[in-house]
Amino acid sequence: MTERRKILVTSALPYANGSIHLGHLVEYIQTDIWSRFQKLRGHECYYVCADDAHGTAIMLKAEQQGISPEQQITEVQAEHQRDFGDFLIAFDNYHSTHSEENRVFSEQIYKRLKDNGHIATREITQAFDPEKNLFLADRYIKGTCPKCKTENQYGDNCEACGATYSPMDLIDPVSVVSGAKPVARESTHYFFKLSEFTEFLKDWTHAGHVSDEIANKLNEWLQGGLQEWDISRDAPYFGFEIPDAPGKYFYVWLDAPIGYMASFKNLCEREGIDFDGFWQADSDAELYHFIGKDIVNFHALFWPAMLSSAGYRTPDKICVHGFLTINGRKMSKSRGTFINARTYLEHLEPEYLRYYFAAKLSPGIEDLDLNLDDFVQRVNSDLVGKVVNIASRCAGFIKKLNGGSLADRVLEPELWQRFADANSVIAGYYENREYSKAMREIMALADAANEYIAAKEPWILAKQQEKADEVVAICSLGINLFRVLIIYLKPVLPGMAAKVEQFVNDPLIWSNSLEPLISHKIEKFKPLMQRIEKDRVDAMVEASKTSLEQQSDNAAPGGPLNDEPLADQITFDDFIKVDLRVARIIEAKQVEGADKLLQLTLDLGGETRYVFSGIKSSYKPEDLEGRLTVMVANLAPRKMRFGVSEGMVLASANSEGIYLLSPDLGAQPGERIT
Ligand code: 2FM
Ligand code: ZN
Repeated sequence: MTERRKILVTSALPYANGSIHLGHLVEYIQTDIWSRFQKLRGHECYYVCADDAHGTAIMLKAEQQGISPEQQITEVQAEHQRDFGDFLIAFDNYHSTHSEENRVFSEQIYKRLKDNGHIATREITQAFDPEKNLFLADRYIKGTCPKCKTENQYGDNCEACGATYSPMDLIDPVSVVSGAKPVARESTHYFFKLSEFTEFLKDWTHAGHVSDEIANKLNEWLQGGLQEWDISRDAPYFGFEIPDAPGKYFYVWLDAPIGYMASFKNLCEREGIDFDGFWQADSDAELYHFIGKDIVNFHALFWPAMLSSAGYRTPDKICVHGFLTINGRKMSKSRGTFINARTYLEHLEPEYLRYYFAAKLSPGIEDLDLNLDDFVQRVNSDLVGKVVNIASRCAGFIKKLNGGSLADRVLEPELWQRFADANSVIAGYYENREYSKAMREIMALADAANEYIAAKEPWILAKQQEKADEVVAICSLGINLFRVLIIYLKPVLPGMAAKVEQFVNDPLIWSNSLEPLISHKIEKFKPLMQRIEKDRVDAMVEASKTSLEQQSDNAAPGGPLNDEPLADQITFDDFIKVDLRVARIIEAKQVEGADKLLQLTLDLGGETRYVFSGIKSSYKPEDLEGRLTVMVANLAPRKMRFGVSEGMVLASANSEGIYLLSPDLGAQPGERIT
């Protein structure tokens, strides 16, 4: 038995102001597979995460919704945890950066940095919103580019000409928050003297903690000279007040990574785990952070520097992944490819996506493409056509010819051994996050098992009574090979693995010397996985187009959802194809199990239609009944998880709500809108 490792694993903490979408899930699925793999190998591994609850964006979002930041973050955290749970992400603990543990560690680490002389203070001048009494980060200011005069440019760079400038140089700047003209104002800020860690970081980034690719990227910063890092923000701010600095708060990115420690501490207190054993400077435990390529500087520069100054251990590895594209392009709301976790779950099974991501994930930072046609084809052919097929071809014969008991021998010991021996190479792939190679290896074995069964044709032999024993032996080997494949796939497909444990009547344990099940009773085979029907995927994309609450995490609050470019121009003939009608809502009701949908019964002047609409967050069903709205009456019916939707009602949305369209008084149900 190899030595039992102590491992702490984290994924980046999602902001508590937006929904989880498929882009986020690349990372959580990647990390979850890794942590499940380590546990399956018998190591003491903990996977912790939390919501990233502080900052201006969260404060403003709560204000817009008329709720306290505490209520806002509690609600979002509940939504996040439900989404993660339904994607089978098995955190050992899920906490919040707005927690007592995090306050204690943030203050402690800050004090240590200060005592070590690593904190400086100085006055800085910043844009200030005189109406909201709020200092404005660059993304909260808009104006005309001083260079090319393009209007409506955010913050400190122009999207049209690429110029960079200070937000105060914008012509006619306005605060996105209030519309007021920002003024320049001074205030004292606190800085972490990162440059004093330059030598430490040069060594650290070249000591195997990040890939060479990332180390080279970080070199650019290290060679250019590290700047002091501004770690304070002025009130009003939702966060932790800096000790002995009234009205000054820790910048959200200061206490966010400390949230990893806080979440783990919370777990340790609950379960009696030795926290120090994982975090003290000479700890023999391993620490892995999984993150996206956009937040490398926080994790591979600021974070190790803070930890080393504060006397804690630094991470063993920062595992960096690329972004998700869908059908080769950036996720887009208008194309329906900005897909929320919940929208996906309303149409498809989580394990399809877990497998597809695994089949495409590598340890590098290249983007991962979810091609929706390939997704359907790959899952159906690999999981249903290859893996599950082995068991479904064999199980019936064991039941029928041997009372459900596997044979007392292994017919082809060499084939069995090939499967059992593959464990070390597959384990190596998982360990190094080379999941696509692991999946390829497993599918090559599945091919071999299918070829074996196809060559033996047990369904033909079974017609001869005297061959029954041989058929049982062939199919028993098939089941044993299948069982090994599911052991190897267990980190990726935990739900299917649990079903297979019931079926083979034995826990699926990954050992270095796997043994076949001999003369072992198995249970009745039940279908393990359905094929993906393409229309489910189409319905998910459609639902994503009409799901009106979606916003990216970083969208500046207050503004409309206007980050989508206008769609391609259409002709009048194209337009007239859309049959818009006045409709009366005669009934509106909740849809059990759906977070966003209401089911509307619409009267079109004699004809009745049933439509699902993602407006639940803004309307009470009883308030809708009797009112008129506008619907697309000739949209092809769409099969959704909860039933068929026979059209679509029209609404706009912004960060404050959803707004159903209404015709003026006098319009009658069924009338066409032209
Ligand atoms: O980029 C983000 O979404 C951040 N909320 C990640 C924080 S990770 C860690 F440092 F807390
Ligand atoms: Zn410009």
